[in-house]
Formats: sequence, structure tokens, C-alpha cells
Amino acid sequence: MPEIHRKLERNSIAFLAAILVVSSIGGFIEIAPLFTIDQTVEKAPDMRLYTPLELAGRDIYIREGCYACHSQMIRTLRDEVERYGPYSLAVESKYDHPMLWGSKRTGPDIARLGGKYSDAWHVAHLINPRAVVPESVMPRYGWLAANALTIDGLSLNLAAQRKVGVPYTDAMVKNATADAYGQAAPDADASTGVKERYGEATNVRDFDGNPGELTEMDALVAYLQILGRQTDIPYKPAAGATQPPTVAEK
Ligand code: HEC
Repeated sequence: MPEIHRKLERNSIAFLAAILVVSSIGGFIEIAPLFTIDQTVEKAPDMRLYTPLELAGRDIYIREGCYACHSQMIRTLRDEVERYGPYSLAVESKYDHPMLWGSKRTGPDIARLGGKYSDAWHVAHLINPRAVVPESVMPRYGWLAANALTIDGLSLNLAAQRKVGVPYTDAMVKNATADAYGQAAPDADASTGVKERYGEATNVRDFDGNPGELTEMDALVAYLQILGRQTDIPYKPAAGATQPPTVAEK
């Protein structure tokens, strides 16, 4: 071996070629899983898009740094599945730009949070976590209930998401501001288009318990209530919903 190396070192072209071959091995190993991406990422034809209001809530979640304490990725380990529910599938992050899997759990994972609590619970918890969970160390976010939600730029927000592959239609982009308002105001005219564009399963209601105003609390709670609810695939036993697939099933 040292003999071969000595010879190689003296021939710069051969040495260069050898360096390229060796360093590309690591590169290939990193790229290889992408060749099987079609088999790795499940199909979820019922996958629902984030509405403009939910997208605004997601931005608030990012702005407030909630991801620093909460993950959104249930692993395939038994204890996680028993605690949180079906493990997260790759397809569920399809429309997450950027993804919010997180890397730290000071608080629990919230990938399956949607529908677990009432809107009123979320509002009380965000205003003062200790009011509902006495031992909580989570900070308060009371100002969200007082801050009016900025909805003017939402069309641009949707257009940007479309650029990176989220299939928003022209009508969705155009009506983003009206839809954000309408989703939290079920009695307003603007609410009729929301379910038409985003599907019957969309939550259309006043989220923050203050029907007169559209606040940042409305947006954040709307977002929290659809976490893990964009597709039914993980809840169907066929997808290996509660347990990792065994070798025989593959
Ligand atoms: C400093 C860490 C920290 C930050 C930042 C934080 N949380 Fe929490 N969160 C916790 C802890 C700890 C708990 C568990 C106790 C409780 O329920 O309050 C929790 C619980 C929760 C729960 C209840 C989850 C469940 O399944 O019971 C929700 C919902 C939640 N947080 C949302 C948020 C949102 C939204 C934000 C950002 C606005 C946020 N958290 C920011 C620490 C944090």
C-alpha cells in the first residue's frame, strides 16, 4: 500500500483523479437516498394546503420562536407513538417552507396537536400557561390577543410559497386577504369563499373568543388547530399508522 501511494503521489494527474474518486464516495452516499424519493415519500392526495390565516399563524409561531421548545416530528419509536400518536410521515412536511421539525423539546412535540384542545384552552394557555397547567415553564404570549393581525401582504406570502412548490391557485393568491379575514369571521360574506377554495374540512370560526377583531391570536390558534390534520393518511392502519412497518410488511 505505501508503495502504491508513493507512485500515485508522483503522478499529479493520477493523484488528482484518485482524490476525486475517493471524495465523491461520500457525496454519492449523501445523494443516493434522493434516487428513491418517490418510494420514500408517501402519497397523500387529500393533503390540504395552509389557508392564509394558518400561514400567518405559522409565521407568528416562527417569529415567537416556539420551535425552540417544541418539535413537530414524532419519531417511529414506541414511546413517542404511544404518547403523541401516529409517527410523522415525510409527506406531512410537504408544504412546510421552512420545515419546523425542531431539535429540542422543552415542551412536548406538537405535530398531532390539532383538535386535542378547544380554542378557548389555547387562548387561555397562550395568555398565561400557568392558568391551565400550574407546573408549566412556558412563557406568556398575552400580547397576541391584543395585536391586530397584519393581513395586507398575505397575497405575496402565498405567491412566495407557490414559487417553492406549494400549489396555490391564482384565486387563492388573489383572495388571500379576504380569506384570512373570512376564516375567523363565519358570519361575514368573506367566509363563503374559504371552504370553496380550501376544502370542507377547513375550520371557519372565531378562534380567539373576540369576534369583533382579527388578532394574531386568531391566526396562531388557527394554525395550532390544524397541526397533524392536513391529511388522514397517518391515521389509516394501512400506512403503518401506529407501529413502524415490520420487515414482512415491506
Ligand atoms: C421556553 C420553552 C417554551 C416556549 C418558547 C414555548 N413553549 Fe409551549 N410549552 C412549553 C412547556 C414546558 C409546555 C408543557 C407545559 C404546558 O402545557 O404549558 C408547553 C406546552 C405547550 C402546548 C400544549 C401541548 C400539549 O400537547 O399539551 C402548546 C399548544 C404550546 N406549548 C404552544 C406553544 C406556542 C404556540 C409557543 C410560541 C408562541 C410556545 N408554546 C412556546 C415550553 C415552551
